[in-house]
Amino acid sequence: MEYSEKVMDHFANPRNVGVIEDADAVGEVGNAKCGDIMKMYLKISDDGVITDIKFKTFGCGAAVATSSMATEMVKGKTINEALQLTNKAVAEALDGLPPVKMHCSVLAEEAIHAAIADYYKRKGLNPEEFMGTC
Ligand code: FES
Ligand code: FES
Repeated sequence: MEYSEKVMDHFANPRNVGVIEDADAVGEVGNAKCGDIMKMYLKISDDGVITDIKFKTFGCGAAVATSSMATEMVKGKTINEALQLTNKAVAEALDGLPPVKMHCSVLAEEAIHAAIADYYKRKGLNPEEFMGTC
């Protein structure tokens, strides 16, 4: 199996790993295919911009690399822009993933969505009104 240089770089030096203690939103998801888990922490400004993001995962190298790239791609974006980010776009930004590893890239996308749903819930709002149903 061949990994791109970008995947190897983000695996060896993952960006935005860690925990945000005073996060405005936290999302935790599990990968149905392998059982790996991911936790995503967001700081969100009053005008809905993701000012900081960190993640922790008990997942494989491809999960680490895609999460690292995904956090870089949504940092500084609005939550609506972050919701548009697909695992496919993240994989493309990494110059591709081996097909058998594509399922690993959904962890980051789903964790971002789960965190944004948590953000709306904490505000007393129904996430489905803003995000549709999952
Ligand atoms: Fe589980 Fe990759 S094998 S996330
Ligand atoms: Fe994105 Fe539900 S997982 S809207």
